[in-house]
Amino acid sequence: MINRKQFLRTGALGLLPLGWKSFASPKTVTGPKPVVIATWHTVKKATEAAWQVLKDGGYALDAVEVGVKVEEADPNNMTVGYGGRPDRNGNVTLDACIMDERGECGSVAFLQNIKHPISVARKVMEESPHAMIVGEGAKKFAVSQGFETENLLTPEAEKAWKEWLKTSEYKPVINIETHDTIGMLALDADGRISGACTTSGAAWKMEGRVGDSPIIGSGLFIDPKVGAACATGLGEEVIKTAGSHLVVEMMRQGHSPEEACKIATERIIERTPSNKEGIQVGYIALNNEGGYGGYSIQGGFSYVVNNGQGNNVAPAKHLME
Ligand code: GLY
Repeated sequence: MINRKQFLRTGALGLLPLGWKSFASPKTVTGPKPVVIATWHTVKKATEAAWQVLKDGGYALDAVEVGVKVEEADPNNMTVGYGGRPDRNGNVTLDACIMDERGECGSVAFLQNIKHPISVARKVMEESPHAMIVGEGAKKFAVSQGFETENLLTPEAEKAWKEWLKTSEYKPVINIETHDTIGMLALDADGRISGACTTSGAAWKMEGRVGDSPIIGSGLFIDPKVGAACATGLGEEVIKTAGSHLVVEMMRQGHSPEEACKIATERIIERTPSNKEGIQVGYIALNNEGGYGGYSIQGGFSYVVNNGQGNNVAPAKHLME
């Protein structure tokens, strides 16, 4: 308990007595804006589409929606949207969420037969009184908003599922079956920050399984006063540590985006040290000053940055050698 004398000595740090140094000293990393960053080296078309919105003074929220839709529509991306690997029953089920510069959010989970879950998530934010709608309810809501239903299981994904059925062993392959989410963060020329996160989730998951991607604070989080973070990888581990919220909170406490991401990956390994070789999670973060960074548990994770100086892949540092 803080006593009256200590309380009177409390200064700008709120309830902390002066002299306490429990937080890192502020290190503001800055960068040019507008800027967009996104998980994984494979999503350059998505960041380029987002950049086209940002470069002419467009809104960060529009940029991240337009950007991730590129991957949702791409049948060759077997971890997001159309063409995503199905669950163990052969059903493609999608999770997505979106947040804006006010910290407003919308999310859908266990959504089937709708190609662009990110746009449904935006409708949840803008057209419903809720933050999250799932399953059949999410599908009905999407249809009520004018979205069309379609089969999202491509012949390639169906073939892969039938191959998997031969063993039916659930052991997600790091950087392949957990090379999953596209998470995208953007800061526009007016300083508005937004994020989007969308995935078909872990391949061969149990029916009804929902990962971190649509969970605000896990797959994505924005604090309007600080910045944004999103996650990729084994969603169960991200959920258990409220990963993206943790990254943003670390930035609030003065850590650079890269340091904040590193701390969140360490938190996962601290929790389950015996399984440290078997888990891949990667984070990216963007602060309100245009500074960005990323970090992962295992090697192989990278992200794309587009801030008008190219559409470049940045390999992330990682914990495990
Ligand atoms: N990170 C996506 C998932 O686990 O579903």
